Amino acid sequence: MERRPALILNFGSQYVQLIARRVREIGIYSEILPYDTSYEDILRKNPYCLILSGGPASVYEPDAPMPDQRIYLLEIPILGICYGLQVIAYQLGGKVERALKQEYGRAKLKVLKEDPLFFDLPQEFDVWMSHADKVVSLPEGFEVLASSENSPNAVIKRGHIYGVQFHPEVIHTSYGKELFYNFLYRICKAERNWELGNFVEEKVEEIKNLVGRERVICALSGGVDSTVASVLTHRAIGDRLECLFVDHGLLRKGEAQEVVNYYNRLSLPFKVIDAKDLFLKRLKNVEDPEKKRTIIGHTFIEIFEEEARKSGAKYLLQGTLYPDVVESAGLPGAKVIKTHHNVGGLPARLGLKLLEPLRELFKDEVRQIGKSLGIPQEMLRRHPFPGPGLAIRILGEVKEEDLTILKEADFIFIEELKRWGLYDKVWQAFAVLLPVKSVGVMGDVRTYERVIALRAVESVDGMTADWARLPYDFLDHVMRRIINEVKGINRVVYDISSKPPATIEWE
Ligand code: XMP
Repeated sequence: MERRPALILNFGSQYVQLIARRVREIGIYSEILPYDTSYEDILRKNPYCLILSGGPASVYEPDAPMPDQRIYLLEIPILGICYGLQVIAYQLGGKVERALKQEYGRAKLKVLKEDPLFFDLPQEFDVWMSHADKVVSLPEGFEVLASSENSPNAVIKRGHIYGVQFHPEVIHTSYGKELFYNFLYRICKAERNWELGNFVEEKVEEIKNLVGRERVICALSGGVDSTVASVLTHRAIGDRLECLFVDHGLLRKGEAQEVVNYYNRLSLPFKVIDAKDLFLKRLKNVEDPEKKRTIIGHTFIEIFEEEARKSGAKYLLQGTLYPDVVESAGLPGAKVIKTHHNVGGLPARLGLKLLEPLRELFKDEVRQIGKSLGIPQEMLRRHPFPGPGLAIRILGEVKEEDLTILKEADFIFIEELKRWGLYDKVWQAFAVLLPVKSVGVMGDVRTYERVIALRAVESVDGMTADWARLPYDFLDHVMRRIINEVKGINRVVYDISSKPPATIEWE
């Protein structure tokens, strides 16, 4: 029997996968479809509900994305989130306008009316807002269930149609998960139909049957996804899996060796390719962040292509996750903030078939699978690290001497985080080398040297983040060590920007 999904219509929100994630987290299968999915296709899915995501558009723009109006006649519940709420209000005859004060970040939501949506929740809690427009007059028959200071119509309802101005899917909304729980179990009366269960056994069998006697090649990055995908595949086909670890020289101090040690412990068959000089040569005189990303991506593919040709493999294993699947579907309306590194186009050129055993999963599900495969906790716990590595943490051109400075400063920061027991308390932490010089005084002598910015964030998925409130004594200690030990640095600053409006990385 087909699993009944909670169907999410995507209007181009940065957070759309988070909605799907939250829904699965509470045991309901979810799927994301484009906002203009036909009415018939929606019906064919027999969904428990429709969730209309947020998005970057304004409903009053000429080509604003709108769903088929007939969805409001369906008997299943609808939940509009942010732009989704505005779409509901607009299509049903309300009024949406650009707000005088835009609202980004934390806000206090006050519940005004009891409703199953708020079952067991406090009368007041923090929510995460990210919008420029707001609903100024409600369509007929709607009532207000909750308000915030800047959004009097923060939660609205008519029958089984709900709209919320804030983002319940992001971690900074307290009780976001409970709101989805109430919506799905109390309002939609959904029945639990999603859990990880026997994922490993099922996938191992599936890979065995699919691959047969062929060979599989994969690129290891030291990250959780490629490691879990490889260990899983290795379990299915043994040494017919060949892994490549390309060292682009943009890794943190000691990292290449650390990763190699992990893979040895996991008995994975892998080959290290030292391409440090090539990457550095190609990055010479390049300042633009997106250009740096493209060069790194292309160079990586070139190296990989050459090795793949030699291997005789028929399959390319990738640690693609569900969020990547959704993103690469090229959903309408979504704006590119940063192009994340991927190897798109490669399999077709090489005549390789894709093997993506993790494509239905989210990151935290992959961590759980990794644990059940016996991958050491310290590897699964490692902070995320971007594909282009330190190249996007040296602002502007990447020079060898700057890499040395950044590696040393970053090493001190991470070492101290571990020593103080803070490493696991933050989601990601790193140092950034800024392209500015400032004046200092050391031992009565004027200095004129570079600045290191420290960044530590709390997050669950990297989609939203808040700066970590690290103790002042700790920051003081790290500042002292960096300035005393890293030649070329005379100033350390701490980044206190949240995402949004900033991003986690500086480039
Ligand atoms: P931003 O800076 O977009 O980062 O807030 C969110 C998360 O993604 C990582 N990141 C990247 N990962 N290739 C990657 O593989 C990239 O080009 C890239 N840019 C950012 C970042 O480290 C953070 O964890």
